[in-house]
Amino acid sequence: MTTSLVRTRYATPLDVAAVTDLHARCSPTTLRRRFHVPVTHVPERLVRQLVSPRNGWSVLAEQCGEVVGLASAGPLTADLLEVGLIVEDRHQGSGVGSRMLRDVARDAHERGYRRLVCLAEPDNDAVLPTVRRAGLEGVPEHVDGVVEVVVALPARRRGLRRPA
Ligand SMILES: CC(C)(COP(=O)(O)OP(=O)(O)OC[C@H]1O[C@@H](n2cnc3c(N)ncnc32)[C@H](O)[C@@H]1OP(=O)(O)O)[C@@H](O)C(=O)NCCC(=O)NCCS
Repeated sequence: MTTSLVRTRYATPLDVAAVTDLHARCSPTTLRRRFHVPVTHVPERLVRQLVSPRNGWSVLAEQCGEVVGLASAGPLTADLLEVGLIVEDRHQGSGVGSRMLRDVARDAHERGYRRLVCLAEPDNDAVLPTVRRAGLEGVPEHVDGVVEVVVALPARRRGLRRPA
């Protein structure tokens, strides 16, 4: 399927209401997969943190003015970035998640991060294919009941040296 009607951009605090609505439209399964605990309601206070992660950023996907996905990126260390993804159920499987992840990865690389990590429940079969579809290579590691899918980013290219 195509994502040609979906566009991605940075999310801003002005998007909090629309991102809250996105979470309200998601199924309990999608919310549990995103937050790793049963969730019935995602409060606006949490959405603010997802939209503006501390020292990080977020990318949203929208179609016809409606937000259909969010990727939140927050640093865990100076070179490791945690990425949390959610795509509204009816848009899953159409390339939205991998497109947001690709955007985040490109940005992360430019900002000097060396690795991304996505945390997933052990039975979440969607994360590794999403990483692959984004053109990245993920290595799953089981840690404390969750799977950490670690993605190595290419080293940042240095500028060409000037001729002597
Ligand atoms: C994980 C998620 C963000 C992926 O977004 P998406 O828009 O569905 O992903 P894409 O359409 O880009 O598809 C990426 C790949 O994952 C596969 N995929 C998507 N959903 C899947 C599922 N439920 N089970 C197995 N594979 C799945 C797609 O088939 C595709 O693989 P392919 O290229 O081999 O066909 C989305 O499914 C989601 O929001 N899930 C609930 C929250 C979650 O699990 N977040 C991840 C933890 S942070």
